[in-house]
Amino acid sequence: MAKLLSFFSAFIFLSITVSSQPDQLFFAGFKDVGTNITLSGNAEIQKTGILKLTNETSRLMGHAFYNSPFQFKNSTNGKAFSFSTSFAFAIVPEYPKLGGHGLAFTVASSKDLKALPSQYLGLLNASDLGNFTNHLFAVEFDTVQDFEFGDINDNHVGIDINSLTSNASAIAGYFADDSTKKDLILKSGRAIQAWIDYDSVEKIINVTISPFSSKPRIPILSFPLDLSPILEEFMYVGFSASTGLLASSHYMLGWSFKINGQARALGLSSLPSLPGLKKHQHTALTVGVSVSAILLALLAIAVAIYLFRKIKNADIIEDWELELGPHRYSYQELKKATKGFGEKELLGSGGFGLVYKGTLPKSKTQVAVKRISHKSQQGLREFVAEIASIGRLRHRNLVQLLGWCRRQGDLLLVYDFMANGSLDNSLFDEPKTILSWEQRFTIIKGVASGLLYLHEGYEQVVIHRDVKASNVLLDSELNGRLGDFGLARLCEHGSNPGTTRVVGTLGYLAPELPRTGKATTCSDVFAFGALLLEVACGRRPIEPEAMPEELVLVDWVWDRFIEGRVLDVVDPRLNGEYNEEEVVMVLKLGIMCSNNAPMARPSMRQIVRYLEGEADISDDLRAPGEFNGGKGHVEGFDDFVHSFASSSFDKMNSYSSTRNNASFASLSTSPLSLFQGRGETR
Ligand SMILES: *[C@@H]1O[C@H](CO)[C@@H](O)[C@H](O)[C@H]1NC(C)=O
Ligand SMILES: *[C@@H]1O[C@H](CO)[C@@H](O)[C@H](O)[C@H]1NC(C)=O
Ligand SMILES: *[C@@H]1O[C@H](CO)[C@@H](O)[C@H](O)[C@H]1NC(C)=O
Ligand SMILES: *[C@@H]1O[C@H](CO)[C@@H](O)[C@H](O)[C@H]1NC(C)=O
Repeated sequence: MAKLLSFFSAFIFLSITVSSQPDQLFFAGFKDVGTNITLSGNAEIQKTGILKLTNETSRLMGHAFYNSPFQFKNSTNGKAFSFSTSFAFAIVPEYPKLGGHGLAFTVASSKDLKALPSQYLGLLNASDLGNFTNHLFAVEFDTVQDFEFGDINDNHVGIDINSLTSNASAIAGYFADDSTKKDLILKSGRAIQAWIDYDSVEKIINVTISPFSSKPRIPILSFPLDLSPILEEFMYVGFSASTGLLASSHYMLGWSFKINGQARALGLSSLPSLPGLKKHQHTALTVGVSVSAILLALLAIAVAIYLFRKIKNADIIEDWELELGPHRYSYQELKKATKGFGEKELLGSGGFGLVYKGTLPKSKTQVAVKRISHKSQQGLREFVAEIASIGRLRHRNLVQLLGWCRRQGDLLLVYDFMANGSLDNSLFDEPKTILSWEQRFTIIKGVASGLLYLHEGYEQVVIHRDVKASNVLLDSELNGRLGDFGLARLCEHGSNPGTTRVVGTLGYLAPELPRTGKATTCSDVFAFGALLLEVACGRRPIEPEAMPEELVLVDWVWDRFIEGRVLDVVDPRLNGEYNEEEVVMVLKLGIMCSNNAPMARPSMRQIVRYLEGEADISDDLRAPGEFNGGKGHVEGFDDFVHSFASSSFDKMNSYSSTRNNASFASLSTSPLSLFQGRGETR
């Protein structure tokens, strides 16, 4: 009897454990996963809730598995269950379009994979490749073409069973609603959503990817497969990524998974957005070969360059270059200053290209050298002419252009070195010290007077076009200086400041811009307003990940303002230590500048007067959206917010690669109502 009882209780215990077996998971960001996810290798969960599988260091592996196994098979008949998963990832390559190796959704019998990095993707090692006993099922998102495993290219999706030689693969892409196939670059640095569905009745596995939240109807890869013999009853699910000689940062933004059912949908807009990493989106270098081939190519290039140099003496000065104002540096000088454009000297990437720190060999002064690649001679010539006149602009709140150098397709711009980096970094990227209100107010006033100088202080009206926190640099005394005049076009005083292409950053873009396509001093003021609110609140103009929905800063500030609780929005990191009068004035000014109607915004001259305390702002403000009624919801807006509000969009500019122009064109032709979320009538 006792035996029977204990058998019985054991049976009950067993059935309880079985019934508490998870059959699904859902993570919109990985902030609160606690111990539910086991990390190994280089994987880490960042404060933003992004799961980073690897960084850009060579030969790393990162694994992240759900900590308890899922039951993948019916224990009675041994048939694999259906399952469905959806996740969002982003791959940010080390060099433009050069990164590796990729990541894989992984179903494995252990969380502790004894595997290799590089082409093995952290899944298998050289001795267990292809073994039936691996019980490994993976869907790879591979960014390097490896000939050993018969990869089709350096941008593909593949189904891997116990091996890295894919059983089926497809070039990364998706089918649009009209069934046309669109290419998708896995290592574009942008968020991509993937869906993997296994149907145990049809015995088919479908893989779908898209840059948007909604799932395309047609999968990119469909492969008939019975998983029953491959899987064991209990399996772990998760992700693996690796780097090799080529490296990328591999990020997971969200993940949902379910056995015997449809995984819960993930909205890209509700997931954390990518950190402001170095983004190299402008070089149109297309290299799609394996490591060995790259090395070969590099060797060939080196030989070619050597021969070329012998024939042609490096920089030939053309007539028009002699007419230009600012100092012309020799290439050798700048090369020496930046230690041969060494990676260690890299400060980051600005509007057009990479920015290096340097010390000029003769004067020993520190400079920042921006290296821009440009292919078209014509464009280059115009651009240099523009840069030259910009070089004549002088103001203590502008980052001074000291000189330049042209060498074939490369344009090098030499600027004053700004010891304290960008305002963006000091406000957001977990700064070491929090800027005090006094410092912030000084920065704001500085930027305002720099912008006033551009608008009114020079013989021509200069429109900045891309005022934003990452373009405000801080010198050694923490003065704010406007940088990156690359986007500015000089407009004659009084003439119609017409232009054909809209440039800017979402959240700072005045609502009339997509419609008129004309940057004006008023649109600069709009962007400056966004900056004011950003500095006072310590939040970005648009925060896609703010819960429960994305936060449009100006709307939030306005709501608190009319409720009479405007101090609630002040950056909590200031610990209440601020001059209330100044803060309220800056917030009110931010609201005024954010008005949808260009003419309702103050001019920079008025703004400077307010900031200097020479005039008072009335409490009777107009709602920012007063002049534009109706809140238009446009499908796809969330995706725009998600992708463009993240700093990958910061690098958008008029001289960028065609890919960026294409993505921007879709924004600039969007209806105005796209922006009316922030222009709601109250
Ligand atoms: C973590 O796992 C426990 C037990 O399975 C579950 O109750 C909890 O909801 C999970 N947490 C998250 C964030 O999924
Ligand atoms: C990447 O990770 C490795 C190992 O964790 C670490 O040593 C290295 O400093 C990291 N590199 C960067 C650029 O963060
Ligand atoms: C497992 O298979 C048996 C026999 O085919 C069936 O009766 C049972 O319902 C299945 N269990 C599950 C959980 O699907
Ligand atoms: C390769 O993987 C197998 C199975 O995971 C493991 O038993 C073996 O020790 C690994 N070999 C090496 C050299 O790591």
